[in-house]
Amino acid sequence: MMIQIPGVLSREQVRQCRRALEAADWTDGRETAGHVAVHHKNNAQLALDHPLASQIGDLVLDALSRSPAFISAVLPVRVLPPRFNRYEGGGDYGNHIDNALLNVPGSGMRIRTDVSSTLFFSDPYEYDGGELTVEDTYGEHTAKLPAGDLVLYPGTSLHRVTPVTRGTRYAAFFWTQSMVRQASRRALLYQLDQSIQALIASSPEHPSVSRLTGIYHNLLREWVES
Ligand code: NI
Repeated sequence: MMIQIPGVLSREQVRQCRRALEAADWTDGRETAGHVAVHHKNNAQLALDHPLASQIGDLVLDALSRSPAFISAVLPVRVLPPRFNRYEGGGDYGNHIDNALLNVPGSGMRIRTDVSSTLFFSDPYEYDGGELTVEDTYGEHTAKLPAGDLVLYPGTSLHRVTPVTRGTRYAAFFWTQSMVRQASRRALLYQLDQSIQALIASSPEHPSVSRLTGIYHNLLREWVES
């Protein structure tokens, strides 16, 4: 399931990040691609140790920690520090599935990439192409969202970024290990939580609120690892 979360960053935050990203030195994205992906990855990335990567990355992580929608959809255990890419001049990234395990820089730990996320730093009108296209059992889904918005999808998905034929597309991308490994179970928990929140909003005293909340936690108890 592809989930969109609007307004993770404010317009002012996006504006400041964009100014810094536009002024930064970028490196060839192929340096961080796996040996299969390297053949069809055509973009630029901020070096992982670039000071801007940790500066904007911390801003993004802080925003996510205060986003009930992100927490409900992902049930995060650990978020890998965000990385940043730039597509322009026909640049694209062909169909691929992300690596299952990634090292957390400088920590000796690694995470299982259960959920992939993209946070847009360019608005759709600024570039042509550059759609994130994700394939699942229900076909293809695409995302090209306003700057500051986030899209997330299961790490198991085949996905690509279509060529950017006009303008420049800046984005952050990162992976999260979830408490719940299976995407189908996370989707059920997310839909149940959203339904409970809607019920609370419309009739907070409804007796089903506490029952459904109990069911949510009992499902979580069944499915959470560790
Ligand atoms: Ni990918």
